[in-house]
Amino acid sequence: MIETPPAPKGFLPRHTSIRTRLTLWYVAVLALVLAIYLIAVYLFQYGMLSSQIYHDEIQDVETVEGLLYFTPGGALQLHQEYWSHPQTHLLIDRLMEVRDLEGNVLYRTDTLHDQALGPSKQSADEGDGTFNERTTRLADGTHVLMISHRHPVQGRMLLIRLGYSLAPLAGRMRYFLAALLLALPIALLAAGIAGLQIARRALAPLDTMTSNAELITATNLHGRLVAANEHDELGRMARVMNSLLERLERSFAQLQRFTADAAHELKTPLTSIRATGEAALESNHSDPARLREAISVMLEETARLDQTVEGLLLISRAEANQLSIKPTQFLLRPLVQEIVSLLDVIIEEREISLSEQETDPASTTIFGDRMLIRTAILNVLHNALKFSPPGSQVSLSYAVIQRENQPFLRLSIQDQGPGIEPEDRERVFERFFRVRGLQVDSIEGSGLGLAIARLAVESNHGFLFFDHAPIGALCQLDLPQASGPQLSHSVNNL
Ligand SMILES: Nc1ncnc2c1ncn2[C@@H]1O[C@H](COP(=O)(O)OP(=O)(O)O)[C@@H](O)[C@H]1O
Ligand SMILES: [Mg+2]
Repeated sequence: MIETPPAPKGFLPRHTSIRTRLTLWYVAVLALVLAIYLIAVYLFQYGMLSSQIYHDEIQDVETVEGLLYFTPGGALQLHQEYWSHPQTHLLIDRLMEVRDLEGNVLYRTDTLHDQALGPSKQSADEGDGTFNERTTRLADGTHVLMISHRHPVQGRMLLIRLGYSLAPLAGRMRYFLAALLLALPIALLAAGIAGLQIARRALAPLDTMTSNAELITATNLHGRLVAANEHDELGRMARVMNSLLERLERSFAQLQRFTADAAHELKTPLTSIRATGEAALESNHSDPARLREAISVMLEETARLDQTVEGLLLISRAEANQLSIKPTQFLLRPLVQEIVSLLDVIIEEREISLSEQETDPASTTIFGDRMLIRTAILNVLHNALKFSPPGSQVSLSYAVIQRENQPFLRLSIQDQGPGIEPEDRERVFERFFRVRGLQVDSIEGSGLGLAIARLAVESNHGFLFFDHAPIGALCQLDLPQASGPQLSHSVNNL
């Protein structure tokens, strides 16, 4: 079972398309980045402008200091050159107030409209040595950046306060902010539209593949997904899906063949039973010998049917992983001898001489489910006897071999029958596969024996296959000698 991952929890409704999600995420991230950028630019611009004002102001204070003089009447005046001093666009109104150290106002520019610039009581050290800078508010509410400095004029120490209104700066910053905030939604809208287009283009191949996949159904499994670029992510997905489809198609075809074969296999004995029954009914009722014979034929066919159904059940249980496997450690040789005695009748009937290699039974330990391994050996040995010409020889031998560094016991069953062509050596393990031309009336069978044998062996981590042999068929059965990490292999490709 493939588990679907839980749907991502989020603020977007579940049916939102990937396209929309991608675009929204993109726009959100971009908005965040832009907002941080705007704040940084705004603060930088503010810092630049205010430090420019500060420097201009200090320069102004120094200019003013050189232009102040007392009239012979004792009034403080400013040489007129000052007003022609170039103004920056930010400095519309210069505000100036000059006091003596006692706090008496000696000079005030008209721009102050008789308002005090800064606190009416100065502190004892205001403007002493350095340029004191502070923002203050005039009586009419104007924000002002004020600088204080002490300077002697004609022998008298004066406190000069120079101020610039901050209104032009605030206005400029507001204007700047408005421009930035206006650009933000426009940029985001443009990015959103572009993002949506990009997402649409990027996901378009997915749409194509989806409609492609919609056309593939159980009756049309040979359809395949086509990816625009087989090297990108979608191409890789298409490749994986296609190989899945291929396996699916193959097992589907196999299943269909299997069902057809099974139906055929069941139909043959049923037809035979029916024909025998009908013939018996039509013939002379009073002949008990003929009736007996008919009944015995019907019973034989029923037994064959029973065997086929039994085999099919076993296979389907194995495929559904419902075989109950109880592995134990046991000796193979006594099991083989048990099977040989079961087949005594057919050995005698066909006058086969069966030879078994002399081995110490104790050296034939294997690990597996005894019942399943018994079924496998019985099927293989039965075949060897069945397909051998009368009077020929069948030999059994044991050997310990290594397979991927694990000890395995190999049981070889060699007969002198027709053998199996190399191209059929794997196919004989398919269900219902029987080599054509080999079946004679006396050789009955359903074609399930080897399929079952291989299932049984593989579910015990063993291997079953036909080897090359100079004459006859040589069947190799490799069984693990100990439990442990075994090679896992599929039992589905029978
Ligand atoms: N020892 C053997 N020698 C020759 N052919 C064999 C031998 N064992 C199996 N085969 C071939 O493999 C086919 C499948 O065998 P199996 O699955 O046991 O079915 P069945 O015995 O019912 O025919 C047989 O029909 C036969 O053609
Ligand atoms: Mg068989």
